[in-house]
Amino acid sequence: MNILILGSGGREHAIAWQLKRSESANNLWCAPGNAGTAAITSNVNIDPLDFGAIKNFIQDTGIDLIIVGPEAPLAAGIADYLDGTCLVFGPQSAGAKIESSKLFAKQFMQRNGISTAEFALFDDYGKARRFLKENSGSWVIKADGLAAGKGVFVTNSTDEAVEALDAIMIEKRFGDSGSRVVIEQKLVGQEVSYIVITDGNSFVPMLASQDHKAVYDNDKGPNTGGMGAYAPTPLVNKMLEERIKKEIIERAIEGFHRENIDYRGILYAGLMIVDGNPCLLEFNCRFGDPETQPQMALFKGDLAGIMADAAQGKLSVYKNLWLDKYAVCVVAASGGYPGKYLKGKPIRGIEEAEQNGAVVFHAGTVLRDGETVTNGGRVLGVTATADTLKDAKKKAYDALSKIDFDGIYYRHDIADKVLGITKNEK
Ligand code: AMP
Ligand code: GLY
Repeated sequence: MNILILGSGGREHAIAWQLKRSESANNLWCAPGNAGTAAITSNVNIDPLDFGAIKNFIQDTGIDLIIVGPEAPLAAGIADYLDGTCLVFGPQSAGAKIESSKLFAKQFMQRNGISTAEFALFDDYGKARRFLKENSGSWVIKADGLAAGKGVFVTNSTDEAVEALDAIMIEKRFGDSGSRVVIEQKLVGQEVSYIVITDGNSFVPMLASQDHKAVYDNDKGPNTGGMGAYAPTPLVNKMLEERIKKEIIERAIEGFHRENIDYRGILYAGLMIVDGNPCLLEFNCRFGDPETQPQMALFKGDLAGIMADAAQGKLSVYKNLWLDKYAVCVVAASGGYPGKYLKGKPIRGIEEAEQNGAVVFHAGTVLRDGETVTNGGRVLGVTATADTLKDAKKKAYDALSKIDFDGIYYRHDIADKVLGITKNEK
């Protein structure tokens, strides 16, 4: 198959890297891609939201399958637009609403008996403020629309909650995405990402993973798109996985059926494990970033074939999809992210970092006069696999120590939450 990957992040580089190993994949393109995808696919300079240009490229090049990496083109209806043009891996806009509207998602969860935090919705600033003033407690304040993972504020006091509300509704930090807010009860537990490929009927689970959303060590500081992830996470044992499948994934798929939503692609459940019970924080309609990096590092099936099967509504049973190892991805970010940061800084040491078997997935990078320079907040995802989580972590950080660019910043504690508690780790 000729395959076009849409996007330019670490997730897309990791997908491309895995597709290179996939027997059903022949030629790969990435639009617009980054310096990493440039080395293993042909980058095409098309904006993922320029649907007309994408369709022309697909028709001119003879693309068989398009894999949509980020949520924005899915929310804007790329799968609807390309229906009948080629195979599309990713849901149509009706399904993508599960991510693009927090209100739709929360109501969908309620309608379908999926356990989630109590919430209230406000489109009036005064009423939202009054609610917070009158109901002290720990609230999570969320912009209703898409905000690149940054429109959520987990607060600890009324003052913090009102500050967050102001950022969303008064400063309009996320534009129109913040014209409505969801105010949600704060859940305390361990977060886990459970991601499946679905054809609308059955599904193929990825290894359960754990992201690290806060910018600083020990989960301090504001939320980012994700500062590192590992898989598989020992927080999800066989029994819990069965519950997640039954109580969350299968209920969602049944819900899509009932609501006449033809959902094909990724269904990503962002879970909080509260006292051993899975509680859903959010659904996403695409792969996780950076969860995809460790997942792809451990995958050994025919990814292109499975994605094409999902896009055609004919998933079957696939055996032997995963290496029996652990993978850890540590994100190297530009200093200042998720706030303001500089771009265009030369990156040194990627080759040295890969010498011990680690893979450096590019995210915000670009080639400038033959040199790889920074071009985004999350710059690289240094990913390593090993027989134990501890060794995978060590290998990833050893590799990362070879890399440098002006302002480089990364967390030092990726996977530590479980390294401390896992007794019978493989
Ligand atoms: P969301 O985009 O809704 O998943 O929120 C982004 C992040 O905010 C999540 O990954 C959690 O770390 C945090 N978060 C969201 N909702 C809650 C909640 N109800 N309780 C605690 N943390 C939350
Ligand atoms: N890593 C979180 C996300 O992809 O939404």
